[in-house]
Amino acid sequence: MHLNIINNMEKIALLASGSGSNVENIVHYFKSGNELEFPLILSNNPDAYVHERAKKLNIPSFTFSKKGFENGEALSFLTKYQIDFIVLAGFLLKIPENILDAYPNRIINIHPALLPKYGGKGMYGSHVHESVVANRETESGITIHYVNENYDEGNIIFQAKCEVLPADSPENVAEKVHALEYKYFPEIILKVVRSLY
Ligand code: GAR
Repeated sequence: MHLNIINNMEKIALLASGSGSNVENIVHYFKSGNELEFPLILSNNPDAYVHERAKKLNIPSFTFSKKGFENGEALSFLTKYQIDFIVLAGFLLKIPENILDAYPNRIINIHPALLPKYGGKGMYGSHVHESVVANRETESGITIHYVNENYDEGNIIFQAKCEVLPADSPENVAEKVHALEYKYFPEIILKVVRSLY
């Protein structure tokens, strides 16, 4: 791993499987500053809208297969781009051992619910919000956590809550959760990366 201690510009890879609105928000947040650099976007989905966003943001983006993830293809992108830290922003695959070993305590994820509730395999995006509404929860929110070998089980770094009203649809909840993500994810990324050095 390459550590950019001297020029203080840690290089962050953003991983996303779908729309990538968090990716875009994060890149915009740091655009005018000089603290974090985002030289690489990776996805497991060639059709993900995040690739369109990457073009507009002028950041190279690549797709790897599930097999390529496990056999080191994704790790070779991370190495080539001298990535120091990995942010999962709407990324749906489990992180393989080769990447966990190369980035100990240097991978974080955002989850659209208050873990440990509504986590685990199959609990992503709209499925989470549908379950929250079906169970008549009165609150939901976001969890930012370190990534380990199990889905959504790494140590929790930060949580923020929003109210869920009886009349809220899953789409309403998704909107409230996205608002929390846009507000807090960039600043928590910065705090975590700073705490490493
Ligand atoms: C976000 O709400 C993120 O928390 C969630 O996917 C959405 C992606 O939105 N992640 C998960 O569900 C991971 N289990 P985006 O593509 O618009 O950023």
